[in-house]
Amino acid sequence: MQDVLRCHNIHKSYHDGRNVTPVLHDVSLSINAGEHVAILGSSGSGKSTLLHLLGGLDTPSSGEVHFKGKSLNSLSANALATLRNEEMGFIYQFHHLLGEFSALENVAMPLRIRGLSASAAQEKARAMLDEVGLSHRLDHLPAEMSGGERQRTAIARALVTEPSVVLADEPTGNLDDTTGDQIYKLLTALSEQKRTAFVVVTHDISLAKKMDRVLRIKDGRLVQSSAEEV
Ligand SMILES: Nc1ncnc2c1ncn2[C@@H]1O[C@H](COP(=O)(O)OP(=O)(O)OP(=O)(O)O)[C@@H](O)[C@H]1O
Ligand SMILES: [Mg+2]
Repeated sequence: MQDVLRCHNIHKSYHDGRNVTPVLHDVSLSINAGEHVAILGSSGSGKSTLLHLLGGLDTPSSGEVHFKGKSLNSLSANALATLRNEEMGFIYQFHHLLGEFSALENVAMPLRIRGLSASAAQEKARAMLDEVGLSHRLDHLPAEMSGGERQRTAIARALVTEPSVVLADEPTGNLDDTTGDQIYKLLTALSEQKRTAFVVVTHDISLAKKMDRVLRIKDGRLVQSSAEEV
């Protein structure tokens, strides 16, 4: 099976002025098309850091991330932005919606960036917001939505482009069990149609147990875990 996303011997330290914070050591990971992977780990263990590296939002201190065999390091900023728009859906831990735009406009945004007309982008965005149960909140600004509604809008924005890989940072953290389950069903439906791979950072044990593979970050290293351990 072809891997869609792969990282090899990644190290990451943050350097802020005089402080060096080592976070990840020698992390290697390969994710196949259509595969669902959960990443667990205590707060501050480096889960968001790893997801940002896999999504090309940050660069490793050493080591490389490859998307479909292409090194992210080798791409220009523009080429990376295009690849991210066309192939990746990123669900941020803190949603990162644009505050001055409505739910509908936020979800339509990646499609507009891709060159779709406003009406075509909004039609797809409306359908995706309907899927996450938000057809009654299309015109609300992020500040006019609940935490879970903002999170679902961010999920809709990540899925609307039908990416090959979705990187999700605690996507169900703000959702009740039933809504979380609906989101999981939406992810798996997309995965079945498009062979979308998912890397999901979560504290939600029941969600992790549904994944093909469960990994854990411990002392900066990525270790195989199992449903029994979670
Ligand atoms: N820009 C930064 N500069 C310096 N240190 C950072 C920076 N970003 C994160 N860190 C540190 O790196 C470590 C890992 O952070 P990260 O956000 O990846 O953790 P996490 O596993 O996602 O935690 P949580 O479950 O709380 O979201 C933390 O100790 C954090 O303080
Ligand atoms: Mg985090």
